[in-house]
Amino acid sequence: MKEQSNFGIIGLGVMGRSLAENIASKGFSLSVYNRITEAERQVVPNFLKETTSHVVLGFTELKGFVASLKTPRKILIMVNAGAAVDSVIAEIEPLLDHNDLIIDGGNSHFQDTQRRSKALEANGIQFLGVGVSGGEQGALKGPSMMAGGQADAYESIRPIFEAIAAKDKNNGACTALLGSDGCGHFVKTIHNGIEYAEMQLLAECFSLLAHSHSYDEIAHIFNQWNEGYLAGYLLEITASILKNKEGNDYLLDKILDKAGSKGTGSWSSQLAFQLGVPASMINAAVTARYVSMLKEKRMQMAADVDRNNATLIVDVQKLKEAYQFARLINHYQGFEIIKAASEANHWHVDLSETARIWTQGCIIKSRLMESLVEIFKKETDLFRHPAIISEVKNNVESAKLILNNAFSLNISTPCISNSLQYWISITSEKSGAHIIQAQRDYFGAHTYQRIDKPLTHFFTTNWTSNG
Ligand code: 6PG
Repeated sequence: MKEQSNFGIIGLGVMGRSLAENIASKGFSLSVYNRITEAERQVVPNFLKETTSHVVLGFTELKGFVASLKTPRKILIMVNAGAAVDSVIAEIEPLLDHNDLIIDGGNSHFQDTQRRSKALEANGIQFLGVGVSGGEQGALKGPSMMAGGQADAYESIRPIFEAIAAKDKNNGACTALLGSDGCGHFVKTIHNGIEYAEMQLLAECFSLLAHSHSYDEIAHIFNQWNEGYLAGYLLEITASILKNKEGNDYLLDKILDKAGSKGTGSWSSQLAFQLGVPASMINAAVTARYVSMLKEKRMQMAADVDRNNATLIVDVQKLKEAYQFARLINHYQGFEIIKAASEANHWHVDLSETARIWTQGCIIKSRLMESLVEIFKKETDLFRHPAIISEVKNNVESAKLILNNAFSLNISTPCISNSLQYWISITSEKSGAHIIQAQRDYFGAHTYQRIDKPLTHFFTTNWTSNG
């Protein structure tokens, strides 16, 4: 009988292929499966031809694929999130044995993961929901992996995950079991939400600088920022994008300004809304992408609106400080969403460990993330940490100045604006919400609490007879 494989992968799209190559290159024997459709006929043969590994078996039918795996089997599904995951599970489950493990490595919604783990575990099949970040290169050379599920299931694949994951500065693998059931996919969703806002902030900094700087100058500025505390993968790639040319033209100038999205950004907002946690930076970034998609409308409106733009030049140092300010607010809000979800779902997510596995391999890896690993060991509320709070306070005036510039220049800056709005709101003792409470009670007798009475008591007023 043929030697059986340690691990199986279903789905050889970009991420599946890269993870397969990564796993095989670490010496684990591997079976891969891809369905056969007209468009995907050559996927498995091509992979087997291109792989440098000799320990890969390829399959286009599931029975042989499942039979080729050592028991208890470990199978990673890398297909599009949503219905495709359910249909793959429905196809393989009857072929599996008690204690076999299915891992969903896509960007699945955490509630789907909760539903799937419950159903599979009831049938004796183990299940892990794992967020995998880092894109194609990350998957190939070392991704960041956020797992959710049962500890014994994670233990069984930990050696493989630790071998393929990116390594942090202490050579620790950027993979961890963060909590049970949908926890890993929840954390990955919020990772993407933070990613959306970080990307939007860079787009805003670029737009403000492009008013009075060449692309080469902006790339130089971003590269300089990237040498200090603002260093991060997204900043680095943005500088590199600005250098890219097609003949004499910048490639960037050929790209249509409509930003796509696959859903995890808006999920982050929806989940934060459901938890009642402010996520104004992510909301602003998601909305900015949606507004960008209205290109025809924007063109039509732009033609109808006269603008007298100011001629000022944005102060690069102030912009740097505003960017720093907004990033801190973004990270604060992102981690607050994870904290709230962890509490609601009893996941006990370790924020320091989350930050640690985000220091390498993932899209939002940065120097700030490095410092959060240590900060979260002592304080889970970033606004109670002296270094963070003084950074925020020191940079708030720059954010105001930059926003004044942005309004004068008619440059859209929804994320920087929301960072300042949030800061002003969260540091205001009086909020204006007593007016909302009075309005709610006026039209709907929704009741209100009083500052001069115990908060356990709720009051209502007949406002028309009182006024
Ligand atoms: C990652 C990325 C990756 C992808 C997201 C966002 O961590 O490697 O987040 O998962 O870029 O799905 O995609 P959209 O921008 O298309 O929503």
